[in-house]
Amino acid sequence: MTEYQTIVANDEAVLRDGTIKLHGPDAFEAMRKAGRLAAEILDEIAPMVQPGVTTAAIDDKVREMTLDGGAVPATLGYRGYAHSCCISINHVVCHGIPSEKTLKDGDIVNIDVTPLLDGWHGDSSRMYCVGDVSLKARRLVDVTHECLMIGISKARPGARIGDIGAAIQAYAEQNRYGVVREFCGHGLGRLFHDAPEVIHAARAGTGPELRPGMFFTIEPMINLGKPAVKLLSDGWTAVTRDKSLSAQFEHSIGITEDGCEIFTLSPKGLHKPPYD
Ligand code: MF3
Ligand code: CO
Ligand code: CO
Repeated sequence: MTEYQTIVANDEAVLRDGTIKLHGPDAFEAMRKAGRLAAEILDEIAPMVQPGVTTAAIDDKVREMTLDGGAVPATLGYRGYAHSCCISINHVVCHGIPSEKTLKDGDIVNIDVTPLLDGWHGDSSRMYCVGDVSLKARRLVDVTHECLMIGISKARPGARIGDIGAAIQAYAEQNRYGVVREFCGHGLGRLFHDAPEVIHAARAGTGPELRPGMFFTIEPMINLGKPAVKLLSDGWTAVTRDKSLSAQFEHSIGITEDGCEIFTLSPKGLHKPPYD
């Protein structure tokens, strides 16, 4: 893809009209390819996530794999963001910026990748555990993965978008965790962030009705403590206000006639840690 095409594909001002797009078989096939590449990247970096590695080195690997896969990292140049993925450690909720900082034993880390392949976005993130991780952190990671999969289980024609967030919120709060309100899942496809907004703490029966051909992400951010977040002065990094640990998993899905298809499932079965 040329640089020009990337800019056009990312131009929300031109293509974003607030309606929820309904896609056909060719778009499903394109999303399968973009989603598979996202999942392969997340599979491939798993062995790198070790004490001592810099997050910049992981970002380099993500960029290399994205380009090798014939795609462009959609985050590169997105609203001034200058990296190929987001890497969010411990109390960082999302949009952590790769840097020379090294991972250390006991960290829990979210890595979020979005290859833009042939004009279509595959957006996915997973948690990784660095070395020996505390039981309470592992439990947060497990429950957060369950939150994502419970949300996905509600995604089918005739359901409302709020059914997804209601299920996620109920499960998280049963576990005494906080659901982040400030960031949502989103429609995607030719655009990175499109309608609908997928709220992760919602009321069942509210919001747009789901129909075959809708594409969106579900990406709950779940805090060990309170839901509140704050933005650091870099303008990107969101952290928990109470400094508690936060976890997130993200899949890109398409609504089918009788349920949904997950575009970003791990080909290697590396759905959640431990990955070895
Ligand atoms: N991949 C993130 C999402 O799930 C968006 C990252 S935008 C960035 O929506 F600019 F922070 F990289
Ligand atoms: Co997303
Ligand atoms: Co993402």
